[in-house]
Amino acid sequence: MVKILLFMGTRPEIIKMAPVIYGLAGKPEAEFVICDTSQHYDEELSKVFYEELKLPEPEFKLEVGSGSHGYQVSAVVKKAEEVIAGYNPDLTVAEGDTNSVVGVALSSVKLKVPFAHVESGLRSYDITMPEEVNRKIADSVASALFAPTERAALNLLYEGVNPGYIWVTGNTIVDILQLYVHRARIESTIIQDLELESVDFLIVLTVHRPENTDNPERLKSILEAVRELEECTILFPVHPRTKAKLEEYGMLKKLKSRKFKNLILLKPLGYVDFVRLLIEADAVLTDSGGIQEEAAILGKPCITLRDNTERPETVEMGFNMIAGASKDRIVDLTRKVIYDPSYIDNLSKINHPFGDGHAGERIANIIVENFEDFKIAAPKYHLSGAPTFRIYRVNEKLSGRTVYNLKPAIVTLIYQDGRPIIPTPDMTLENGMLIRCLAEKPILEELERKFDLA
Ligand code: UD1
Ligand code: UDP
Repeated sequence: MVKILLFMGTRPEIIKMAPVIYGLAGKPEAEFVICDTSQHYDEELSKVFYEELKLPEPEFKLEVGSGSHGYQVSAVVKKAEEVIAGYNPDLTVAEGDTNSVVGVALSSVKLKVPFAHVESGLRSYDITMPEEVNRKIADSVASALFAPTERAALNLLYEGVNPGYIWVTGNTIVDILQLYVHRARIESTIIQDLELESVDFLIVLTVHRPENTDNPERLKSILEAVRELEECTILFPVHPRTKAKLEEYGMLKKLKSRKFKNLILLKPLGYVDFVRLLIEADAVLTDSGGIQEEAAILGKPCITLRDNTERPETVEMGFNMIAGASKDRIVDLTRKVIYDPSYIDNLSKINHPFGDGHAGERIANIIVENFEDFKIAAPKYHLSGAPTFRIYRVNEKLSGRTVYNLKPAIVTLIYQDGRPIIPTPDMTLENGMLIRCLAEKPILEELERKFDLA
């Protein structure tokens, strides 16, 4: 029996953790409870999703609420510690890159309770983004890292994470969308309610990143693009952070005026209605992380209101275009996709890289089957003090052996043509490959002698 403490705290975490919860709920050998950090506490960002997704009530609530990064992270660390110590789980699990997640990861590892990270390995390589800091820290202390794509797993390998801790599982958002696309078509009446049946172009807009909301120039530029796209009906469910900022900058009144007659301001929507809007949309304008993925999975063009993304797969596949907050770029890209039907036709032929819809089940299985290996323990006694990394090119003598055969652990493997791959124990080494090994120096030197490695 494995005893699991699941943490979630914001809208996207509730949505993306749901498939893991469904997966665990079907396993008699798993006992789990939910702890909600209450980073999001408004009904429309939290309770609505527990209800729609039919999730069990949280057993614990940390009541952390809003505040500075220092406040939020430290409050989660402190309060999660009490819950973890009291419940005494075999492992904790959290999803994503919020302040809640980094707080839980730190609390857990300090109590020597293994931390499992769902949606691990995403990187924008932009450290000014608060979420990038959270992801890197959470991943660096995790004992089990569930990477949604191979690319995410490679990011982890390059940072030196032991490949034995990494699983490529797919993204749980695919699981949940597969269920909700059907429900949204049947249950949601939002299109009729808002009388949108005959609009020419329907666009969904969301903005909540601090780089946009906390910078009036960027926010203004995005909203000017909205106004210029007058042939489009733009639906804008406003995140509370954005609402507060629009009020502060005196922009909210203007948005409600005739100048923005193509804009429909909405409260944050429940999942069924929001998915329905995504289904019906001609394009999506967003700075959200999760919505970039959802657009790709649904085959919708997405114009990302950021200067970079930790989901580069969406850009490479052609679903996503990075516009930043440039008014002209947003307008040009939106017009490019809505006036060119072949663009959408081509998108519909591309398979997204986010998985097969079984990520939640897969993660639940991995946890149940492997939790005893997720130990937080001191490394074995090191005669030389500590291990070190060295990189070798596989030669004739080494080729033909498997990753498992080698005494030093192979942590990264690169084909001769430069393609990196995730080393698995049964993988055979080929002449010319580059391998990065981790071991004590005397063991590496022995390997060098034995196989004539320079
Ligand atoms: C947080 C996450 C972000 C994630 C987003 C999902 C961090 C650093 N940010 O951003 O990664 O994409 O959630 O939506 O963890 N507020 C309310 N009611 C609420 C919650 C927030 O009014 O229930 C308002 C408060 O004014 C608060 C502001 O929104 O100060 C920001 O909330 P916060 O949780 O700090 O960050 P988000 O912008 O929601
Ligand atoms: N979402 C929703 N209602 C809304 C806006 C978003 O249900 O009004 C969903 C959306 O489908 C996605 C998730 O919330 O699954 C994304 O949340 P958000 O953009 O707040 O966070 P991020 O993904 O950027 O961390």
